[in-house]
Amino acid sequence: MFAGLGAISTTLIAGVAAIKRGLAKPVGSLAQLGTLDVGTKAEPQYVNIKDRITLARLDDLTFGAWDVIDTDGYQASVRAGALEPDLIEAVAPELAAVRAWPGVFDQRFLRRVPGAFHKTGTDFMDLVEQVRADIAGFQRERALTSSVVLWCGSTEAFLEPSSAHETLEMFEAALRAGDHDVIAPSMVYAYAALSMGVPFVNATPSRTADIPALIELALANSTPTAGKDLKTGQTLIKTILAPGLRDRMLGLRGWYSTNILGNRDGETLDDPDALRTKRESKLAVLDSILRPDLYPDLYQNLSHQVQITYYPPRGDNKESWDAIDLFGWLGYPMQLKIDFLCRDSILAAPLLLDLILFMDLAKRKGLGGPQEWLSFYFKSPVCLNGHRATHELSLQLAHLKGQLNRFVEDSAPCETVDTLST
Ligand SMILES: NC(=O)c1ccc[n+]([C@@H]2O[C@H](COP(=O)([O-])OP(=O)(O)OC[C@H]3O[C@@H](n4cnc5c(N)ncnc54)[C@H](O)[C@@H]3O)[C@@H](O)[C@H]2O)c1
Repeated sequence: MFAGLGAISTTLIAGVAAIKRGLAKPVGSLAQLGTLDVGTKAEPQYVNIKDRITLARLDDLTFGAWDVIDTDGYQASVRAGALEPDLIEAVAPELAAVRAWPGVFDQRFLRRVPGAFHKTGTDFMDLVEQVRADIAGFQRERALTSSVVLWCGSTEAFLEPSSAHETLEMFEAALRAGDHDVIAPSMVYAYAALSMGVPFVNATPSRTADIPALIELALANSTPTAGKDLKTGQTLIKTILAPGLRDRMLGLRGWYSTNILGNRDGETLDDPDALRTKRESKLAVLDSILRPDLYPDLYQNLSHQVQITYYPPRGDNKESWDAIDLFGWLGYPMQLKIDFLCRDSILAAPLLLDLILFMDLAKRKGLGGPQEWLSFYFKSPVCLNGHRATHELSLQLAHLKGQLNRFVEDSAPCETVDTLST
């Protein structure tokens, strides 16, 4: 179930329908196309992940969604403009079948979306009950054996950490008190899902399930969470390239990143408060990879800047530039320029698919709380017990595959998956 029926969620729904109809391949999905080495150093043996691990099949997936606009998957996909019209028409029935339930809305967190289609309640606990009823109703109606909730709504305005986020008891008190200063709509979905034992993914940079109170709930209910902010375009390239420059002991004076995008995500980010949420997420990665504390001569004075500009003509086809000022032997300066003409939702959709399948797997394996082995998918991976987040893509992939290999070795059979909702 998606909270937010916009560009990324409808691109996933359309893509799954297209793949099931034989119109496309699941390009970008590690769960569908990736391999594991289950052999030895002397004799590697590569197997397809989906052949060795019991994952839900694409035929098992059924989709539901909330939004604060009265829409369905077909209208939302047309509006998002991420896909060609003929592809949308080819899978129109599957898209139209996803009719949004009214969402949880608060103008304080989302100023650029009118949000006329939403639930009303006496306090946040009342809204939680309504979201829980949507989840339970959908599970009953579709006879589902398991579900995953993914927060894919617009980026929310920056929310400072608060004492109400520190413990579950204080968080629940704030829900009952209807405290709009500390509870964001995304947290209502997260609390509702986790309190029912339904895995929760935060695909956005918003402060959502990454607060101690909701981590406490996820651990108490043995329910997995994963987040936050899908690592798709510029940050993906940054976390591939920066480790290589560091491994060669090349210095960096500056890394200037700028983006132009014209989709609704870009429009939301035109609000300085929402932009702050996104920029904080994008800025953290370089320090963690370059380690100026270990290599002060190379990275101590690095100027890392990130700009995001809403530019409507580009729609979902974002352009991101990186101007990198590096230096080598004897301090001689060099420059590297990257111009990535990417497609936001095309890069995001396969990550959502993998997260659905792996989060369901994690739940069946009894794993609860933040799933660090899924850091591979996120710009700002949420970690447990003060662990330092790993941003290097190759290390994240090794962690993910290491966990999958442990699942292979684990002789305990998985529960079978009949029907999985997302
Ligand atoms: N596209 C990418 O590559 C990418 C990468 C990382 C993160 N993200 C994040 O994913 C999120 C979604 O991106 P998108 O491109 O699909 O945006 P979008 O604007 O197309 O869709 C967001 C949808 O969420 C709905 N919404 C807003 N508040 C809601 C609420 N409280 N409850 C339910 N629905 C709500 C909006 O009406 C809209 O339909 C954004 O936060 C974005 O920053 C996207």
